[in-house]
Amino acid sequence: MPHMLKNVLAGVLTAEEASQVYSAFDQVGDIVIIKIPDSLAAKKQVIAEAILANVKTAKTVFAQASAVKGDYRIRELEFVAGENRTITEYREHGCRFRVDVARAYFSPRLSTERQRIASLVQDRETIVNMFAGIGTYSIIIAKAVKTCRVYSIDSNSVAHDLCIENAKINKVADRVVPICADASEAIKSQLAGVADRVIMPLPERAKEFVEPAVLALKKHGGVVHYFAHVKADGKQKAKEEAGAKDAKEVFAPYSYEILGTTVVREVGPRIYQIVADVKITKK
Ligand SMILES: C[S@@+](CC[C@H](N)C(=O)[O-])C[C@H]1O[C@@H](n2cnc3c(N)ncnc32)[C@H](O)[C@@H]1O
Repeated sequence: MPHMLKNVLAGVLTAEEASQVYSAFDQVGDIVIIKIPDSLAAKKQVIAEAILANVKTAKTVFAQASAVKGDYRIRELEFVAGENRTITEYREHGCRFRVDVARAYFSPRLSTERQRIASLVQDRETIVNMFAGIGTYSIIIAKAVKTCRVYSIDSNSVAHDLCIENAKINKVADRVVPICADASEAIKSQLAGVADRVIMPLPERAKEFVEPAVLALKKHGGVVHYFAHVKADGKQKAKEEAGAKDAKEVFAPYSYEILGTTVVREVGPRIYQIVADVKITKK
């Protein structure tokens, strides 16, 4: 959050109140999403106006009205100020994404992880992105590695339609293949044995989808990026103990090697989102 805004909010909020707003501020394109604690509900409008006045790139302010929830991982938003629209354009790693902040999952906070996974992809890989959303991982990968192909599954038709549009905008529609379906069904019916790499960015439920993820890998095996939420006392323990332990349990039925574990972010008090890169060898 820009420094200037801190000063502006300091004029309308106490320092303690202001710090609650700073810690939960997302900007996606020209849309700002803030979390307003109940105690500050009466000051919602004045906070939003201060943001619009001071963040030059912001045109719209929404307040988050529920946690991220449901299969589609979306949150209820309450319009507060500016232009009343939920669609915007977001730029990341040289790609442009059309985003609907209300109807399909999107988080600007995963940008480093998207870049990290893209940097691991080799020439001519086939990738299955089981929970592709609006196509962020898939498109960043396809743009970075011109010879790869990415099957991009999502069960939310709004996310699927945006993925189609985003693949076209970024000129990778010939290699990003959006599929609107349940990931497990899509793999069983059309993607068994096709993948060098499988991405599973649904940390709340990835565990339930390990079997289809392994099924999607080629006959000799490949790499699975397994996302999970783990409890730990600090980031280091999340990486070295909790993350590796979780992945070991989940992949125990297979011949596997954990290539590495990354902590993506803290998602709650002592709860971390991790990604384990797991190499599976099929007999
Ligand atoms: C946490 S989001 C990640 C989206 C995207 N990878 C990103 O990082 O922006 C998880 C996505 O999985 C989708 N999803 C949930 N259950 C699914 C299922 N059974 N099959 C396919 N997609 C599913 C949701 O609609 C949502 O878009």
